[in-house]
Amino acid sequence: MRLAPPAAEPPSGSLSQRLYAALREWIQQGSLPAASALPSSRRLAADLGIGRNTVLAAMDRLVAEGFVEARPGAGLFVASLALPEPSPLPGAPIQASRWHSRRGQRLLESCGEMEGSRDAFAPGVPALDLFPREAWQRLLRRHRHQASLDAFGYAASGGHHALKTALCDYLRLSRSVNCQPHQILITQGAQQGFELIARLLADPDDSVWVEDPGYAGAKACFNMAGLTPVPVPVDAQGMQPEALAPDSPPPRLIYVTPSHQYPCGVTMPVARRLALLDFARHHGALIIEDDYDSEFRYTTAPVASLQGLAGGGPVLYVGTFSKVLYPGLRLGYLVLPEALVDDFRRANARLHREGQYVSQSALADFIVEGHFSRHIARMRHCYRQRQACLREALAPAVEQGLELSAGQAGMHLVARLASRAQEQRLIERGRREGVTLSPLSGHYLAPDAMPGLVLGYAGSTPERIAEAGGWLARAWIDDRQHQPAG
Ligand SMILES: Cc1ncc(COP(=O)(O)O)c(C=O)c1O
Repeated sequence: MRLAPPAAEPPSGSLSQRLYAALREWIQQGSLPAASALPSSRRLAADLGIGRNTVLAAMDRLVAEGFVEARPGAGLFVASLALPEPSPLPGAPIQASRWHSRRGQRLLESCGEMEGSRDAFAPGVPALDLFPREAWQRLLRRHRHQASLDAFGYAASGGHHALKTALCDYLRLSRSVNCQPHQILITQGAQQGFELIARLLADPDDSVWVEDPGYAGAKACFNMAGLTPVPVPVDAQGMQPEALAPDSPPPRLIYVTPSHQYPCGVTMPVARRLALLDFARHHGALIIEDDYDSEFRYTTAPVASLQGLAGGGPVLYVGTFSKVLYPGLRLGYLVLPEALVDDFRRANARLHREGQYVSQSALADFIVEGHFSRHIARMRHCYRQRQACLREALAPAVEQGLELSAGQAGMHLVARLASRAQEQRLIERGRREGVTLSPLSGHYLAPDAMPGLVLGYAGSTPERIAEAGGWLARAWIDDRQHQPAG
């Protein structure tokens, strides 16, 4: 018997581990057939020129795992196992979609290519390089050092109390959210909040109104929970329910980004907010208010939240630290109506478990010690400049008719295009040049999608924005000259 190296990797591990692996592989491949007798440990050790204890350790493991049977007085035999049929075409790629559930397939279809990108136009990526890493690391070190054992165990309290208190003060003051600390549930980001709401408050086949165009992340959660997203057109004042057919059935949930519609960037005025609240109350629907980046307003103060207008009404407020701090932190929160607080806390603890208590307590101090508001003020200034930089780079195209969104807030601009064909051509051109472009049409559910590009600017340096923006302006002008019919 020769000790063959494992097929793909160089041999690793101790001698007994390698002997175990080789014997196991031969058994699984059928080279050592079921019921065949194995040589005695003494003979095997002599044949291989290794110690008998080494052989015994390998055999013991094979016996313990059931690959080999010890028959008293007779020795060791290969066990009879229902081994899987070897693949008819070794090395042929497995069609992953064969394994997908219908739910999983729907989720995969909604996963955008931009996720993870930090290139010039990646939407929703903050200025990671400007995050005050030193202050943050210092707080993390302090809290890691001071943490009680509770921070390392299972918890079901909805989040660290000091963080909920600090956040509550901040939300009341800066977003006019009407809440007490116990109404806050700390989540691992907005995404987890949408998922919990969809699973806990709606049944499969219930409908959920979503803005069209709208945020793919929320729609993916609704789809995965089996809900039916109903696209509601967006106009200059945000979600426009009147545009639906008058006999449309009322939804169970209504998902909106009223302070800064994603991706169009418009703000819902108070009259429409009140009408939406009235509609929800009247039809027993619940509103999900996604307030993901409204800290970054450049011309006016942040708009007051819909939740604050509701006076304890049917609004679940979803917030995230992904934009104001950084997405990898994976911390967000829900502000829940009083009656739902306990249900959400219990469901979250069961479904997702709570965690990141050290980060949560560090974040509480980050807010209380003023780093948070200083960082937001700095980023507001920085993003305003980065947006100006992108506008300047795109100016030659704008002079020739390229339409850009107003950009009074947020971390991206929308450039309107003439046709879906032009959108595709520019995306393809960008791909060849290493510039990733996000299509506006990809944010729609309705077939008559508006063509355009969603151009993030917050996460790139002014140099890169100028370079990529200049490239885009030239590409748009060139495309228009050569494809005048769109
Ligand atoms: C509209 C909108 N809501 C919420 C989020 C934040 O999601 P999370 O907190 O899961 O990172 C994003 C991120 O891109 C977003 O664009």
